[in-house]
Amino acid sequence: MGRCCYYVVGTLSLLLLVTSVTLLVARVFQKAVDQTIEKDIVLKNGTETFDSWMKPPLPVYSQFYFFNVTNPEEILKGEIPRLEEVGPYTYRELRNKGDIQFGGNGTTITAVSNKAYVLERNLSVGDPNVDLIRTLNIPAVTAMEWSQVHILWEIIEALLKAYQQKLFVTHTVHELLWGYKDEILTFINIFKPDIAPYFGLFYGRNGTNDGDYVFLTGEDNYLDFTRIIQWNGKTSLDWWATEECNMINGTDGDSFHPLVTKDEVLYVFPSDFCRSLYLTFSSFESVQGLPALRFKVPAEILANTSDNAGFCIPKGNCLGTGVLNISVCKNGAPIILSFPHFYQADEKFISAIEGMHPNKEYHETFVDINPLTGIILRGAKRIQINVYVKKLDDFTETGNIREMVFPVMHVNESVLIDAETASRLKSVINTTLIITNIPYIVMALGVFFGLVFTWLACKGQASMDEGTADERAPLIRT
Ligand SMILES: *[C@@H]1O[C@H](CO)[C@@H](O)[C@H](O)[C@H]1NC(C)=O
Ligand SMILES: *[C@@H]1O[C@H](CO)[C@@H](O)[C@H](O)[C@H]1NC(C)=O
Ligand SMILES: *[C@@H]1O[C@H](CO)[C@@H](O)[C@H](O)[C@H]1NC(C)=O
Ligand SMILES: *[C@@H]1O[C@H](CO)[C@@H](O)[C@H](O)[C@H]1NC(C)=O
Ligand SMILES: *[C@@H]1O[C@H](CO)[C@@H](O)[C@H](O)[C@H]1NC(C)=O
Ligand SMILES: *[C@@H]1O[C@H](CO)[C@@H](O)[C@H](O)[C@H]1NC(C)=O
Ligand SMILES: *[C@@H]1O[C@H](CO)[C@@H](O)[C@H](O)[C@H]1NC(C)=O
Ligand SMILES: *[C@@H]1O[C@H](CO)[C@@H](O)[C@H](O)[C@H]1NC(C)=O
Repeated sequence: MGRCCYYVVGTLSLLLLVTSVTLLVARVFQKAVDQTIEKDIVLKNGTETFDSWMKPPLPVYSQFYFFNVTNPEEILKGEIPRLEEVGPYTYRELRNKGDIQFGGNGTTITAVSNKAYVLERNLSVGDPNVDLIRTLNIPAVTAMEWSQVHILWEIIEALLKAYQQKLFVTHTVHELLWGYKDEILTFINIFKPDIAPYFGLFYGRNGTNDGDYVFLTGEDNYLDFTRIIQWNGKTSLDWWATEECNMINGTDGDSFHPLVTKDEVLYVFPSDFCRSLYLTFSSFESVQGLPALRFKVPAEILANTSDNAGFCIPKGNCLGTGVLNISVCKNGAPIILSFPHFYQADEKFISAIEGMHPNKEYHETFVDINPLTGIILRGAKRIQINVYVKKLDDFTETGNIREMVFPVMHVNESVLIDAETASRLKSVINTTLIITNIPYIVMALGVFFGLVFTWLACKGQASMDEGTADERAPLIRT
Protein backbone atom coordinates (compact mmCIF):
# COMPACT_ATOMS: atom_id res chain seq x y z
CA MET A 1 0.00 0.00 0.00
CA GLY A 2 2.70 2.55 1.07
CA ARG A 3 4.96 1.49 -1.75
CA CYS A 4 2.14 1.92 -4.31
CA CYS A 5 1.34 5.43 -3.05
CA TYR A 6 5.02 6.27 -3.27
CA TYR A 7 5.18 5.32 -6.97
CA VAL A 8 1.93 7.10 -7.86
CA VAL A 9 3.18 10.33 -6.31
CA GLY A 10 6.50 10.06 -8.10
CA THR A 11 4.93 9.40 -11.49
CA LEU A 12 2.38 12.18 -11.01
CA SER A 13 5.11 14.68 -10.17
CA LEU A 14 7.13 13.70 -13.22
CA LEU A 15 4.06 13.85 -15.50
CA LEU A 16 3.06 17.30 -14.24
CA LEU A 17 6.56 18.66 -14.69
CA VAL A 18 6.86 17.28 -18.23
CA THR A 19 3.39 18.60 -19.13
CA SER A 20 4.12 22.08 -17.80
CA VAL A 21 7.40 22.32 -19.69
CA THR A 22 5.71 21.08 -22.87
CA LEU A 23 2.93 23.66 -22.47
CA LEU A 24 5.47 26.41 -21.90
CA VAL A 25 7.64 25.45 -24.84
CA ALA A 26 4.67 25.04 -27.18
CA ARG A 27 3.11 28.28 -25.80
CA VAL A 28 -0.28 26.59 -25.99
CA PHE A 29 -2.16 28.92 -23.65
CA GLN A 30 -0.36 32.03 -24.88
CA LYS A 31 -1.37 31.16 -28.43
CA ALA A 32 -4.96 30.48 -27.40
CA VAL A 33 -5.17 33.88 -25.70
CA ASP A 34 -3.55 35.64 -28.66
CA GLN A 35 -5.93 33.98 -31.09
CA THR A 36 -8.95 34.92 -29.01
CA ILE A 37 -7.80 38.54 -28.91
CA GLU A 38 -7.00 38.63 -32.61
CA LYS A 39 -10.53 37.38 -33.31
CA ASP A 40 -12.23 39.65 -30.78
CA ILE A 41 -10.59 42.95 -31.72
CA VAL A 42 -12.24 43.42 -35.09
CA LEU A 43 -14.61 46.17 -36.21
CA LYS A 44 -17.86 44.26 -36.39
CA ASN A 45 -21.33 45.67 -35.80
CA GLY A 46 -22.56 44.94 -32.29
CA THR A 47 -19.21 44.34 -30.61
CA GLU A 48 -17.72 46.39 -27.80
CA THR A 49 -14.66 47.12 -29.96
CA PHE A 50 -16.92 48.61 -32.64
CA ASP A 51 -18.88 50.70 -30.13
CA SER A 52 -15.80 52.24 -28.56
CA TRP A 53 -14.30 52.90 -31.98
CA MET A 54 -17.51 54.60 -33.13
CA LYS A 55 -17.90 56.65 -29.97
CA PRO A 56 -14.58 56.78 -28.05
CA PRO A 57 -15.46 56.56 -24.34
CA LEU A 58 -12.45 58.47 -22.99
CA PRO A 59 -12.50 62.29 -22.92
CA VAL A 60 -9.96 63.99 -25.18
CA TYR A 61 -8.85 67.52 -24.35
CA SER A 62 -7.32 70.09 -26.67
CA GLN A 63 -5.28 72.73 -24.89
CA PHE A 64 -4.35 75.79 -26.91
CA TYR A 65 -1.41 78.02 -26.01
CA PHE A 66 -0.93 81.30 -27.87
CA PHE A 67 2.20 83.41 -28.27
CA ASN A 68 1.39 87.03 -27.46
CA VAL A 69 3.66 89.49 -29.28
CA THR A 70 5.07 92.08 -26.89
CA ASN A 71 7.31 94.18 -29.19
CA PRO A 72 5.61 94.60 -32.61
CA GLU A 73 7.31 97.92 -33.50
CA GLU A 74 10.78 96.57 -32.73
CA ILE A 75 10.13 93.42 -34.78
CA LEU A 76 9.32 95.58 -37.80
CA LYS A 77 12.65 97.33 -37.24
CA GLY A 78 14.42 93.99 -37.46
CA GLU A 79 14.70 93.03 -33.81
CA ILE A 80 14.11 89.61 -32.32
CA PRO A 81 10.44 88.94 -31.46
CA ARG A 82 9.70 88.72 -27.74
CA LEU A 83 6.80 86.31 -27.26
CA GLU A 84 4.81 85.51 -24.18
CA GLU A 85 3.02 82.19 -23.94
CA VAL A 86 -0.63 82.47 -22.86
CA GLY A 87 -2.69 79.39 -22.08
CA PRO A 88 -4.03 76.83 -21.78
CA TYR A 89 -7.45 77.43 -23.28
CA THR A 90 -8.96 74.00 -22.90
CA TYR A 91 -11.69 72.42 -25.00
CA ARG A 92 -13.16 68.98 -24.57
CA GLU A 93 -13.49 67.11 -27.84
CA LEU A 94 -16.71 65.32 -28.65
CA ARG A 95 -15.84 62.60 -31.11
CA ASN A 96 -17.86 60.13 -33.05
CA LYS A 97 -17.71 58.29 -36.32
CA GLY A 98 -20.47 58.92 -38.85
CA ASP A 99 -21.70 57.70 -42.25
CA ILE A 100 -20.50 54.20 -41.38
CA GLN A 101 -20.71 51.56 -44.08
CA PHE A 102 -19.22 48.10 -44.15
CA GLY A 103 -17.68 46.81 -47.36
CA GLY A 104 -15.72 43.90 -48.79
CA ASN A 105 -17.67 41.32 -46.74
CA GLY A 106 -16.75 42.98 -43.46
CA THR A 107 -13.08 43.54 -44.25
CA THR A 108 -13.40 47.30 -44.84
CA ILE A 109 -15.39 50.11 -43.27
CA THR A 110 -16.10 53.60 -44.60
CA ALA A 111 -16.59 56.43 -42.11
CA VAL A 112 -15.96 60.07 -41.24
CA SER A 113 -14.53 61.20 -37.88
CA ASN A 114 -16.66 64.02 -36.51
CA LYS A 115 -15.18 66.31 -33.89
CA ALA A 116 -16.76 69.12 -31.90
CA TYR A 117 -15.07 71.30 -29.30
CA VAL A 118 -16.67 72.44 -26.06
CA LEU A 119 -14.93 75.02 -23.89
CA GLU A 120 -13.83 73.87 -20.43
CA ARG A 121 -13.76 77.25 -18.74
CA ASN A 122 -12.52 75.75 -15.44
CA LEU A 123 -9.47 74.23 -17.13
CA SER A 124 -8.56 77.46 -18.96
CA VAL A 125 -6.51 80.45 -17.84
CA GLY A 126 -9.11 82.95 -18.99
CA ASP A 127 -12.16 83.55 -21.12
CA PRO A 128 -11.40 83.02 -24.84
CA ASN A 129 -14.14 85.49 -25.72
CA VAL A 130 -12.42 88.24 -23.74
CA ASP A 131 -8.69 87.53 -23.74
CA LEU A 132 -6.84 89.38 -26.47
CA ILE A 133 -3.80 88.04 -28.30
CA ARG A 134 -1.56 90.08 -30.54
CA THR A 135 -0.08 87.97 -33.28
CA LEU A 136 0.78 87.95 -36.97
CA ASN A 137 -1.90 89.02 -39.41
CA ILE A 138 -2.00 85.61 -41.05
CA PRO A 139 -4.56 86.50 -43.79
CA ALA A 140 -2.38 89.45 -44.84
CA VAL A 141 0.81 87.36 -44.83
CA THR A 142 -1.02 84.70 -46.82
CA ALA A 143 -2.28 87.25 -49.34
CA MET A 144 1.29 88.53 -49.76
CA GLU A 145 2.43 84.97 -50.34
CA TRP A 146 -0.30 84.46 -52.95
CA SER A 147 0.73 87.65 -54.72
CA GLN A 148 4.23 86.21 -55.13
CA VAL A 149 2.91 83.36 -57.24
CA HIS A 150 -0.31 84.74 -58.73
CA ILE A 151 -0.83 87.88 -60.75
CA LEU A 152 -3.23 89.22 -58.15
CA TRP A 153 -0.46 91.15 -56.48
CA GLU A 154 -1.48 94.63 -57.56
CA ILE A 155 -4.98 94.07 -56.25
CA ILE A 156 -3.64 92.62 -53.02
CA GLU A 157 -1.26 95.50 -52.50
CA ALA A 158 -4.04 98.00 -53.11
CA LEU A 159 -6.23 96.07 -50.68
CA LEU A 160 -3.60 96.01 -47.96
CA LYS A 161 -3.20 99.79 -48.40
CA ALA A 162 -6.92 100.53 -48.61
CA TYR A 163 -7.71 98.62 -45.43
CA GLN A 164 -4.56 99.89 -43.70
CA GLN A 165 -3.54 96.35 -42.84
CA LYS A 166 -0.85 95.98 -40.24
CA LEU A 167 1.49 93.02 -39.94
CA PHE A 168 0.34 92.45 -36.36
CA VAL A 169 -3.29 92.28 -35.30
CA THR A 170 -5.08 91.81 -32.01
CA HIS A 171 -8.01 89.41 -31.73
CA THR A 172 -9.68 87.38 -29.04
CA VAL A 173 -8.61 83.77 -28.55
CA HIS A 174 -12.04 82.67 -29.75
CA GLU A 175 -11.71 84.64 -32.99
CA LEU A 176 -8.20 83.40 -33.68
CA LEU A 177 -9.29 79.81 -33.22
CA TRP A 178 -12.80 79.63 -34.59
CA GLY A 179 -12.74 82.44 -37.13
CA TYR A 180 -13.35 86.11 -37.74
CA LYS A 181 -14.39 87.90 -40.90
CA ASP A 182 -11.33 89.32 -42.61
CA GLU A 183 -11.59 92.28 -44.99
CA ILE A 184 -8.95 91.08 -47.44
CA LEU A 185 -10.29 87.54 -47.56
CA THR A 186 -13.80 88.92 -48.05
CA PHE A 187 -12.59 90.78 -51.11
CA ILE A 188 -10.57 87.88 -52.49
CA ASN A 189 -13.60 85.66 -51.96
CA ILE A 190 -15.37 87.64 -54.69
CA PHE A 191 -12.74 86.52 -57.23
CA LYS A 192 -12.06 83.11 -55.76
CA PRO A 193 -15.20 81.73 -54.11
CA ASP A 194 -13.31 78.72 -52.76
CA ILE A 195 -11.40 81.04 -50.40
CA ALA A 196 -13.64 81.61 -47.35
CA PRO A 197 -14.04 85.22 -46.14
CA TYR A 198 -13.27 84.02 -42.60
CA PHE A 199 -9.97 83.24 -40.99
CA GLY A 200 -9.31 81.12 -37.90
CA LEU A 201 -6.69 78.51 -37.07
CA PHE A 202 -9.49 76.01 -36.43
CA TYR A 203 -12.08 77.71 -38.63
CA GLY A 204 -14.67 75.22 -39.90
CA ARG A 205 -13.35 72.48 -37.66
CA ASN A 206 -16.13 72.50 -35.02
CA GLY A 207 -18.74 69.81 -35.58
CA THR A 208 -17.20 68.72 -38.86
CA ASN A 209 -14.79 66.07 -40.08
CA ASP A 210 -11.56 65.86 -42.03
CA GLY A 211 -12.88 63.77 -44.89
CA ASP A 212 -13.98 60.25 -45.80
CA TYR A 213 -11.86 57.36 -44.65
CA VAL A 214 -11.81 53.72 -45.65
CA PHE A 215 -10.33 51.56 -42.88
CA LEU A 216 -9.58 47.87 -42.70
CA THR A 217 -11.56 46.17 -39.94
CA GLY A 218 -8.89 43.66 -38.93
CA GLU A 219 -11.07 40.76 -40.09
CA ASP A 220 -8.34 39.37 -42.38
CA ASN A 221 -5.34 40.25 -40.25
CA TYR A 222 -5.27 41.70 -36.74
CA LEU A 223 -2.25 43.84 -37.72
CA ASP A 224 -4.53 45.73 -40.11
CA PHE A 225 -7.04 46.76 -37.43
CA THR A 226 -8.27 50.29 -38.34
CA ARG A 227 -5.49 50.77 -40.90
CA ILE A 228 -6.38 53.52 -43.38
CA ILE A 229 -6.48 52.43 -47.00
CA GLN A 230 -8.20 55.49 -48.46
CA TRP A 231 -8.66 59.13 -47.51
CA ASN A 232 -10.99 61.35 -49.51
CA GLY A 233 -11.11 58.72 -52.23
CA LYS A 234 -7.35 58.56 -52.63
CA THR A 235 -4.94 55.83 -51.55
CA SER A 236 -2.02 58.26 -51.30
CA LEU A 237 -1.34 61.99 -51.13
CA ASP A 238 -0.16 63.96 -54.14
CA TRP A 239 1.56 67.05 -52.76
CA TRP A 240 4.95 65.72 -51.65
CA ALA A 241 7.86 64.99 -53.96
CA THR A 242 8.31 61.23 -53.57
CA GLU A 243 6.10 58.17 -53.49
CA GLU A 244 7.28 57.25 -49.95
CA CYS A 245 6.46 60.70 -48.62
CA ASN A 246 3.00 60.57 -50.19
CA MET A 247 2.09 57.23 -48.62
CA ILE A 248 -0.85 57.09 -46.23
CA ASN A 249 0.48 54.74 -43.57
CA GLY A 250 -1.11 53.12 -40.54
CA THR A 251 -4.11 54.23 -38.49
CA ASP A 252 -5.41 57.71 -37.67
CA GLY A 253 -3.64 57.43 -34.30
CA ASP A 254 -6.85 56.96 -32.29
CA SER A 255 -6.53 53.17 -32.26
CA PHE A 256 -3.85 50.55 -32.70
CA HIS A 257 -3.88 46.82 -33.38
CA PRO A 258 -3.72 44.42 -30.40
CA LEU A 259 -0.63 42.42 -29.37
CA VAL A 260 1.74 45.32 -29.83
CA THR A 261 5.40 44.49 -29.36
CA LYS A 262 8.20 46.88 -28.52
CA ASP A 263 10.12 46.08 -31.68
CA GLU A 264 7.36 47.47 -33.88
CA VAL A 265 7.23 50.76 -35.71
CA LEU A 266 3.70 52.17 -35.46
CA TYR A 267 2.58 54.27 -38.40
CA VAL A 268 -0.09 56.96 -38.14
CA PHE A 269 -1.63 59.45 -40.52
CA PRO A 270 -2.89 62.54 -38.67
CA SER A 271 -4.52 64.52 -41.49
CA ASP A 272 -3.74 67.88 -39.83
CA PHE A 273 -0.04 67.04 -40.18
CA CYS A 274 -0.48 66.60 -43.97
CA ARG A 275 1.78 63.52 -43.92
CA SER A 276 2.24 60.10 -42.32
CA LEU A 277 4.36 59.77 -39.22
CA TYR A 278 5.68 56.88 -37.17
CA LEU A 279 6.24 56.12 -33.50
CA THR A 280 8.94 53.96 -31.98
CA PHE A 281 9.19 52.26 -28.59
CA SER A 282 10.83 54.29 -25.85
CA SER A 283 10.03 52.84 -22.41
CA PHE A 284 7.87 50.60 -20.23
CA GLU A 285 5.22 52.48 -18.29
CA SER A 286 2.40 51.80 -15.89
CA VAL A 287 -0.86 53.73 -16.21
CA GLN A 288 -3.50 53.29 -13.47
CA GLY A 289 -1.76 50.01 -12.64
CA LEU A 290 -1.96 48.75 -16.22
CA PRO A 291 1.17 47.80 -18.16
CA ALA A 292 1.94 50.02 -21.13
CA LEU A 293 4.52 50.50 -23.83
CA ARG A 294 5.41 54.11 -24.50
CA PHE A 295 5.82 54.97 -28.17
CA LYS A 296 7.18 58.35 -29.24
CA VAL A 297 7.48 60.33 -32.42
CA PRO A 298 11.26 60.25 -32.86
CA ALA A 299 13.32 63.34 -33.67
CA GLU A 300 14.21 61.83 -37.07
CA ILE A 301 10.64 62.53 -38.27
CA LEU A 302 11.44 66.20 -38.92
CA ALA A 303 15.20 65.89 -39.28
CA ASN A 304 17.09 67.29 -42.26
CA THR A 305 17.90 63.83 -43.70
CA SER A 306 17.78 62.26 -47.13
CA ASP A 307 14.68 60.28 -46.00
CA ASN A 308 12.86 63.57 -45.55
CA ALA A 309 14.14 65.28 -48.69
CA GLY A 310 10.78 64.59 -50.36
CA PHE A 311 9.07 66.91 -47.86
CA CYS A 312 11.26 69.85 -48.91
CA ILE A 313 9.30 71.51 -51.70
CA PRO A 314 10.05 73.06 -54.06
CA LYS A 315 12.73 70.37 -54.44
CA GLY A 316 15.86 70.95 -52.39
CA ASN A 317 14.24 73.77 -50.41
CA CYS A 318 14.86 72.33 -46.92
CA LEU A 319 14.26 74.73 -44.03
CA GLY A 320 16.20 72.63 -41.53
CA THR A 321 15.62 70.10 -38.76
CA GLY A 322 12.40 70.29 -36.75
CA VAL A 323 10.06 72.11 -39.13
CA LEU A 324 7.68 71.06 -41.90
CA ASN A 325 6.38 73.42 -44.59
CA ILE A 326 2.72 72.46 -45.11
CA SER A 327 1.88 75.44 -47.30
CA VAL A 328 1.07 73.03 -50.12
CA CYS A 329 -1.81 71.47 -48.16
CA LYS A 330 -3.09 74.76 -46.68
CA ASN A 331 -4.13 76.66 -49.80
CA GLY A 332 -0.72 78.29 -50.11
CA ALA A 333 -0.79 79.89 -46.66
CA PRO A 334 2.85 79.98 -45.41
CA ILE A 335 2.16 77.63 -42.51
CA ILE A 336 5.12 75.78 -40.97
CA LEU A 337 4.57 72.98 -38.45
CA SER A 338 6.94 72.07 -35.66
CA PHE A 339 6.78 70.60 -32.19
CA PRO A 340 5.94 73.14 -29.44
CA HIS A 341 8.71 75.64 -28.67
CA PHE A 342 10.70 74.11 -31.55
CA TYR A 343 11.33 70.99 -29.47
CA GLN A 344 13.96 68.85 -31.27
CA ALA A 345 14.49 71.56 -33.90
CA ASP A 346 17.63 73.34 -35.05
CA GLU A 347 19.02 75.84 -32.55
CA LYS A 348 18.64 78.60 -35.17
CA PHE A 349 14.83 78.47 -34.89
CA ILE A 350 14.89 78.60 -31.09
CA SER A 351 17.37 81.45 -30.85
CA ALA A 352 15.55 83.53 -33.49
CA ILE A 353 12.69 84.04 -31.02
CA GLU A 354 12.82 85.19 -27.42
CA GLY A 355 10.54 83.06 -25.26
CA MET A 356 11.12 79.56 -26.64
CA HIS A 357 11.74 76.96 -23.94
CA PRO A 358 11.64 73.48 -25.46
CA ASN A 359 11.02 70.84 -22.83
CA LYS A 360 10.77 67.09 -23.29
CA GLU A 361 8.07 66.58 -20.68
CA TYR A 362 5.71 69.26 -21.97
CA HIS A 363 6.44 69.26 -25.69
CA GLU A 364 7.01 65.72 -26.89
CA THR A 365 4.38 63.59 -28.62
CA PHE A 366 3.86 60.12 -27.19
CA VAL A 367 1.29 57.39 -26.66
CA ASP A 368 1.13 54.72 -23.94
CA ILE A 369 -0.40 51.55 -25.35
CA ASN A 370 -1.53 48.47 -23.49
CA PRO A 371 0.42 45.81 -25.41
CA LEU A 372 -2.19 43.03 -25.06
CA THR A 373 -5.26 44.92 -26.27
CA GLY A 374 -3.66 47.80 -28.19
CA ILE A 375 -5.83 50.20 -26.20
CA ILE A 376 -4.46 53.72 -25.66
CA LEU A 377 -4.09 54.37 -21.93
CA ARG A 378 -2.53 57.81 -22.17
CA GLY A 379 -1.31 60.02 -24.97
CA ALA A 380 -0.44 63.53 -26.02
CA LYS A 381 -0.18 64.88 -29.54
CA ARG A 382 1.61 68.21 -29.59
CA ILE A 383 1.93 70.50 -32.58
CA GLN A 384 2.96 74.10 -33.03
CA ILE A 385 1.65 76.28 -35.85
CA ASN A 386 4.15 78.82 -37.17
CA VAL A 387 4.10 81.26 -40.05
CA TYR A 388 7.03 81.89 -42.35
CA VAL A 389 7.70 85.65 -42.65
CA LYS A 390 10.29 87.76 -44.40
CA LYS A 391 10.70 91.30 -45.63
CA LEU A 392 8.95 91.81 -48.95
CA ASP A 393 10.01 94.89 -50.93
CA ASP A 394 6.58 95.12 -52.56
CA PHE A 395 4.90 95.36 -49.19
CA THR A 396 6.02 98.18 -46.92
CA GLU A 397 3.86 96.60 -44.18
CA THR A 398 6.64 94.08 -43.64
CA GLY A 399 9.09 96.83 -42.64
CA ASN A 400 12.54 95.44 -41.97
CA ILE A 401 11.34 92.20 -40.44
CA ARG A 402 13.86 89.37 -40.25
CA GLU A 403 13.32 86.21 -42.21
CA MET A 404 12.04 83.66 -39.71
CA VAL A 405 9.64 80.93 -38.69
CA PHE A 406 7.26 82.83 -36.41
CA PRO A 407 5.38 80.83 -33.72
CA VAL A 408 1.67 81.58 -33.39
CA MET A 409 0.09 78.83 -31.30
CA HIS A 410 0.66 75.32 -30.05
CA VAL A 411 -1.87 72.68 -29.13
CA ASN A 412 -1.72 69.69 -26.83
CA GLU A 413 -4.35 67.08 -27.61
CA SER A 414 -4.33 64.60 -24.77
CA VAL A 415 -6.18 61.61 -23.39
CA LEU A 416 -5.93 59.65 -20.13
CA ILE A 417 -7.80 56.48 -19.17
CA ASP A 418 -10.07 56.95 -16.13
CA ALA A 419 -10.02 54.70 -13.07
CA GLU A 420 -13.31 52.96 -13.92
CA THR A 421 -12.34 51.99 -17.48
CA ALA A 422 -8.92 50.98 -16.20
CA SER A 423 -10.36 48.58 -13.63
CA ARG A 424 -12.63 46.99 -16.25
CA LEU A 425 -9.64 46.52 -18.52
CA LYS A 426 -7.64 45.18 -15.60
CA SER A 427 -10.09 42.32 -15.02
CA VAL A 428 -9.83 41.31 -18.68
CA ILE A 429 -6.05 41.39 -18.48
CA ASN A 430 -6.06 39.42 -15.21
CA THR A 431 -8.17 36.66 -16.74
CA THR A 432 -5.71 36.29 -19.59
CA LEU A 433 -2.87 36.36 -17.06
CA ILE A 434 -4.40 33.43 -15.19
CA ILE A 435 -4.87 31.49 -18.43
CA THR A 436 -1.34 32.12 -19.65
CA ASN A 437 -0.03 31.16 -16.22
CA ILE A 438 -1.72 27.73 -16.18
CA PRO A 439 1.57 25.96 -17.16
CA TYR A 440 3.24 27.52 -14.11
CA ILE A 441 0.39 26.32 -11.90
CA VAL A 442 0.84 22.81 -13.33
CA MET A 443 4.57 23.11 -12.73
CA ALA A 444 4.00 24.20 -9.13
CA LEU A 445 1.80 21.13 -8.58
CA GLY A 446 4.54 18.97 -10.07
CA VAL A 447 7.09 20.44 -7.72
CA PHE A 448 4.68 19.94 -4.79
CA PHE A 449 4.20 16.25 -5.59
CA GLY A 450 7.94 15.96 -6.11
CA LEU A 451 8.46 17.24 -2.58
CA VAL A 452 5.82 14.81 -1.24
CA PHE A 453 7.64 12.05 -3.09
CA THR A 454 10.95 13.05 -1.54
CA TRP A 455 9.39 13.27 1.90
CA LEU A 456 7.83 9.82 1.50
CA ALA A 457 11.17 8.48 0.30
CA CYS A 458 13.01 9.91 3.31
CA LYS A 459 10.32 8.66 5.69
CA GLY A 460 10.58 5.20 4.16
CA GLN A 461 14.35 5.29 4.62
CA ALA A 462 13.99 6.59 8.19
CA SER A 463 11.50 3.87 9.21
CA MET A 464 13.89 1.29 7.81
CA ASP A 465 16.72 2.83 9.88
CA GLU A 466 14.45 2.84 12.96
CA GLY A 467 13.60 -0.80 12.37
CA THR A 468 17.26 -1.73 12.40
CA ALA A 469 17.76 0.20 15.63
CA ASP A 470 14.85 -1.68 17.25
CA GLU A 471 16.34 -4.95 16.18
CA ARG A 472 19.67 -3.97 17.63
CA ALA A 473 18.22 -2.72 20.92
CA PRO A 474 17.81 -6.13 22.59
CA LEU A 475 21.41 -6.90 21.67
CA ILE A 476 22.56 -3.82 23.53
CA ARG A 477 20.34 -4.66 26.51
CA THR A 478 21.81 -8.05 26.90
C1 LIG B 1 -25.58 47.71 -36.83
O1 LIG B 1 -26.67 46.91 -36.43
C2 LIG B 1 -27.81 47.67 -36.04
C3 LIG B 1 -28.85 46.72 -35.50
O2 LIG B 1 -28.84 45.51 -36.18
C4 LIG B 1 -28.31 48.46 -37.24
O3 LIG B 1 -29.41 49.25 -36.86
C5 LIG B 1 -27.19 49.37 -37.71
O4 LIG B 1 -27.58 50.08 -38.89
C6 LIG B 1 -25.95 48.57 -38.02
N1 LIG B 1 -24.85 49.50 -38.31
C7 LIG B 1 -24.08 49.42 -39.39
C8 LIG B 1 -23.04 50.42 -39.53
O5 LIG B 1 -24.19 48.53 -40.21
C1 LIG C 1 -17.90 38.36 -50.61
O1 LIG C 1 -18.15 36.98 -50.41
C2 LIG C 1 -18.78 36.34 -51.52
C3 LIG C 1 -19.11 34.91 -51.14
O2 LIG C 1 -18.17 34.39 -50.28
C4 LIG C 1 -17.84 36.43 -52.73
O3 LIG C 1 -18.47 35.84 -53.86
C5 LIG C 1 -17.54 37.89 -53.01
O4 LIG C 1 -16.61 37.99 -54.07
C6 LIG C 1 -16.97 38.59 -51.78
N1 LIG C 1 -16.84 39.99 -52.04
C7 LIG C 1 -15.75 40.68 -51.74
C8 LIG C 1 -15.79 42.11 -52.07
O5 LIG C 1 -14.79 40.19 -51.19
C1 LIG D 1 -18.96 73.83 -31.27
O1 LIG D 1 -20.25 73.37 -31.59
C2 LIG D 1 -21.00 72.96 -30.46
C3 LIG D 1 -22.28 72.36 -30.94
O2 LIG D 1 -22.80 73.02 -32.04
C4 LIG D 1 -21.21 74.13 -29.54
O3 LIG D 1 -21.93 73.74 -28.38
C5 LIG D 1 -19.85 74.66 -29.11
O4 LIG D 1 -20.01 75.81 -28.31
C6 LIG D 1 -19.03 74.99 -30.33
N1 LIG D 1 -17.69 75.31 -29.88
C7 LIG D 1 -17.08 76.43 -30.19
C8 LIG D 1 -15.71 76.59 -29.71
O5 LIG D 1 -17.61 77.30 -30.85
C1 LIG E 1 -16.15 75.18 -12.31
O1 LIG E 1 -15.70 75.57 -11.01
C2 LIG E 1 -16.75 76.10 -10.20
C3 LIG E 1 -16.14 76.61 -8.89
O2 LIG E 1 -14.82 76.24 -8.76
C4 LIG E 1 -17.78 75.03 -9.96
O3 LIG E 1 -18.84 75.57 -9.18
C5 LIG E 1 -18.33 74.58 -11.28
O4 LIG E 1 -19.25 73.51 -11.10
C6 LIG E 1 -17.23 74.11 -12.20
N1 LIG E 1 -17.78 73.86 -13.50
C7 LIG E 1 -17.50 72.75 -14.19
C8 LIG E 1 -18.13 72.64 -15.51
O5 LIG E 1 -16.76 71.88 -13.77
C1 LIG F 1 -1.41 90.23 -25.11
O1 LIG F 1 -0.78 91.43 -25.39
C2 LIG F 1 -1.67 92.52 -25.54
C3 LIG F 1 -0.86 93.70 -25.98
O2 LIG F 1 0.20 93.91 -25.12
C4 LIG F 1 -2.40 92.77 -24.23
O3 LIG F 1 -3.33 93.83 -24.39
C5 LIG F 1 -3.14 91.53 -23.83
O4 LIG F 1 -3.74 91.68 -22.57
C6 LIG F 1 -2.21 90.33 -23.81
N1 LIG F 1 -3.01 89.15 -23.62
C7 LIG F 1 -2.93 88.35 -22.58
C8 LIG F 1 -3.88 87.23 -22.52
O5 LIG F 1 -2.12 88.52 -21.68
C1 LIG G 1 5.18 54.63 -45.26
O1 LIG G 1 5.60 53.31 -44.99
C2 LIG G 1 6.66 52.84 -45.82
C3 LIG G 1 6.97 51.43 -45.39
O2 LIG G 1 5.83 50.67 -45.30
C4 LIG G 1 7.88 53.73 -45.69
O3 LIG G 1 8.86 53.32 -46.60
C5 LIG G 1 7.49 55.16 -45.99
O4 LIG G 1 8.59 56.00 -45.77
C6 LIG G 1 6.35 55.59 -45.10
N1 LIG G 1 5.96 56.94 -45.46
C7 LIG G 1 5.82 57.90 -44.56
C8 LIG G 1 5.44 59.23 -45.06
O5 LIG G 1 5.95 57.72 -43.38
C1 LIG H 1 20.43 69.86 -44.59
O1 LIG H 1 21.39 68.84 -44.76
C2 LIG H 1 22.22 69.06 -45.89
C3 LIG H 1 23.12 67.86 -46.08
O2 LIG H 1 23.44 67.28 -44.86
C4 LIG H 1 23.02 70.36 -45.71
O3 LIG H 1 23.81 70.57 -46.85
C5 LIG H 1 22.03 71.51 -45.56
O4 LIG H 1 22.72 72.69 -45.28
C6 LIG H 1 21.04 71.23 -44.42
N1 LIG H 1 20.02 72.27 -44.47
C7 LIG H 1 19.68 72.98 -43.41
C8 LIG H 1 18.65 74.03 -43.65
O5 LIG H 1 20.11 72.77 -42.30
C1 LIG I 1 6.76 76.27 -48.62
O1 LIG I 1 6.14 75.50 -49.63
C2 LIG I 1 5.53 76.31 -50.62
C3 LIG I 1 4.73 75.41 -51.52
O2 LIG I 1 5.50 74.41 -52.04
C4 LIG I 1 6.59 77.09 -51.36
O3 LIG I 1 6.00 77.88 -52.36
C5 LIG I 1 7.29 77.99 -50.35
O4 LIG I 1 8.35 78.66 -50.97
C6 LIG I 1 7.83 77.17 -49.20
N1 LIG I 1 8.29 78.06 -48.15
C7 LIG I 1 9.55 78.11 -47.76
C8 LIG I 1 9.87 79.08 -46.71
O5 LIG I 1 10.38 77.37 -48.22
